[in-house]
Amino acid sequence: MIVFEHVGKRYGGRFDALANLDFRVDRGEMVFLTGHSGAGKSSLLRLIMRLERPTRGRVLVAGHDIARLHASQVPFYRRQIGVVFQDHQLLLDRSIYHNVALPLEIRGVEHREAARRVRAALDKVGLLHREKALPIELSGGEQQRVGIARAVVNKPSLLLADEPTGNLDPQLSADIMALFEDFNRIGTTVVIASHDLALITRLRHRMLRLRDGRLVADEEAA
Ligand SMILES: Nc1ncnc2c1ncn2[C@@H]1O[C@H](COP(=O)(O)OP(=O)(O)OP(=O)(O)O)[C@@H](O)[C@H]1O
Ligand SMILES: [Mg+2]
Repeated sequence: MIVFEHVGKRYGGRFDALANLDFRVDRGEMVFLTGHSGAGKSSLLRLIMRLERPTRGRVLVAGHDIARLHASQVPFYRRQIGVVFQDHQLLLDRSIYHNVALPLEIRGVEHREAARRVRAALDKVGLLHREKALPIELSGGEQQRVGIARAVVNKPSLLLADEPTGNLDPQLSADIMALFEDFNRIGTTVVIASHDLALITRLRHRMLRLRDGRLVADEEAA
């Protein structure tokens, strides 16, 4: 699903944020990406999203070198990837329903079909009964679950999350991770950047560990 071949990323001057990364993530895998602040976790995810391009090497997703995608193909490519951010990035003046519907509206999905999918996604994260609420009326954990519903409403084959439990207490964090596991169980490939070692070690999935932009460990689930 994802192949990194000798990938390096240099921002601006002489500083390598990522260096010589080689690994692959197979379809249907669930992988944690960990490492200290500044290790390069977000940079790695941004390369997969094609928000950045590698300075060296190649990033292949589903067999395609994504640096070679034509600009006109990039929106289509990104649509196949669900992304969850730490600060969920919900629109504060829009209802929960509309926040989740947004990716479908952008694609012009027919109204009734969109409603069906939004409700299925909200149901999956346990928030169907809050569809009319505004984000501010929800707890941090609930807001994060809305972010996840929005990320999966397009039924992406790949789900990326950057510190999705960053602001949550341990119980809510565990709940959020369990949701990702649910999506993985039905075949979605999942890559989650997290520095919460206590939590992700307990979950027993493969772990890629970065240090100063280099891959220093690739540990299979114990
Ligand atoms: N757009 C940018 N321009 C210049 N340098 C950048 C840019 N983005 C990231 N960096 C640098 O690249 C390195 C890796 O950053 P990155 O955000 O990938 O780390 P991270 O592992 O996600 O850290 P954190 O745990 O704090 O989120 C850091 O030293 C950072 O300062
Ligand atoms: Mg980061």
